[in-house]
Amino acid sequence: MEYAIKKNHKNKIDGLTLLQQLEKASIKTAFFDPQYRGILDKLGYGNEGEKRGRARSSLPQMNEDQIIHFIEHINRVLVPSGHLFLWVDKFHLCQGVLDWFLNTDLHLVDLITWDKEKIGMGYRTRRRSEYLVIFQKLPIRAKNVWKTHTIPDVWREKVIKTHPHSKPISLQKELIKATSEEGDIILDPASGGYSVLEACRQTKRTFIGGDIIYGED
Ligand SMILES: C[S@@+](CC[C@H](N)C(=O)[O-])C[C@H]1O[C@@H](n2cnc3c(N)ncnc32)[C@H](O)[C@@H]1O
Repeated sequence: MEYAIKKNHKNKIDGLTLLQQLEKASIKTAFFDPQYRGILDKLGYGNEGEKRGRARSSLPQMNEDQIIHFIEHINRVLVPSGHLFLWVDKFHLCQGVLDWFLNTDLHLVDLITWDKEKIGMGYRTRRRSEYLVIFQKLPIRAKNVWKTHTIPDVWREKVIKTHPHSKPISLQKELIKATSEEGDIILDPASGGYSVLEACRQTKRTFIGGDIIYGED
């Protein structure tokens, strides 16, 4: 049965099911914050989820094939010159994520480091930052498409967590304002604590998104 996706709503839905229902070239700006164990799995640290990070580890994880499917759908639904903001950890930043984009028209155009102003966990150094990789669908353009020229590429913002992976609302608001107009549709197919929904409310954009476990009827 097809789930009726509501706008400006916390849809409880698999992100791929949501994306399949969206029309081609209907979205100005997308955020994607995949749920992966990333550095912890790749480096083989075993006790994540047992002794520590239980809330994080109990969330449904996405494998690489799923992430690629999400990205291919996002590529389909973005308008030409539309933007995707992809959140990554330091492992993916160093290892590279471009293999996920091979079958798309999305090109890497910039990077923002989020300084959380709060020290987290880590086995050698302790995490204080995450990274937002910026992609643009062809044709690559900045003039009249990216409207704000005051966003620094290191962004400091403390968040009040409503989810184990809450992202900074003010940064996301600035990026939404830079890349879209009031009323435009902004997508977040794995919304977690719905920081992008809140950013849309505060900037008068229309939100479409959901999460496989977090949502309302
Ligand atoms: C990293 S969190 C997103 C956090 C969010 N950006 C925020 O600011 O709160 C990723 C979310 O993806 C969800 N998720 C995992 N698999 C999913 C799927 N197939 N479809 C939709 N959501 C999924 C998890 O439940 C988790 O809440």
